[in-house]
Amino acid sequence: MTDKDEILLRLKQPIVLVGLMGAGKTKIGGLLAEALGLPFIDADHAIEESAQCTIPEIFERYGEPAFRDLERKVLTRLMSQERKVIATGGGAVMNDETANLIWGSALSLWLKADLEILVERTGRTLGKRPLLQKGNPREILQGLMDKRYPVYARADVTVETTLAEPEANMARVLDALAVYLKDLEGKRA
Ligand code: S3P
Repeated sequence: MTDKDEILLRLKQPIVLVGLMGAGKTKIGGLLAEALGLPFIDADHAIEESAQCTIPEIFERYGEPAFRDLERKVLTRLMSQERKVIATGGGAVMNDETANLIWGSALSLWLKADLEILVERTGRTLGKRPLLQKGNPREILQGLMDKRYPVYARADVTVETTLAEPEANMARVLDALAVYLKDLEGKRA
């Protein structure tokens, strides 16, 4: 059986990608959804649609706590439906309620990346990243890694992303998810 068939046979819940900005959640999540034939939703995009403005505008006009509240509401709505792939914003699981929702009802996947990759990838889109605009992006990202990596580590599956093509990273994700779901079934049997 292929990884795709293994996953589709056993998957019962949404797959939710977590990890820092620049780890590749949107790109790899989109490819993963395509490979599995499931819908793909980017939570940041859904938040922008719901607020009718961009993420930097939400931060600027209403502040981060209001953004987190909206993020929680949008994710609650998205999670209450069937199988799909959801890419979350990097801070989603730092809100306890959002985190409980994800750890409790999704198959969670942490895309883990090292600092160099995050600096390189976010450097191309700094204007879209309000949290990286108030200081040195490398130092901010290092601080976020220190704070968030112990939380992301609660995810069901962790895959380290590399600078290889997104398709190659996605293939490793498919493999890791198939192994996880097969093992889980073995443990339950
Ligand atoms: C954030 C990450 C962003 C976006 C917002 C806050 C964070 O999403 O939700 O700017 O707290 O790490 P990406 O991780 O998709 O860039």
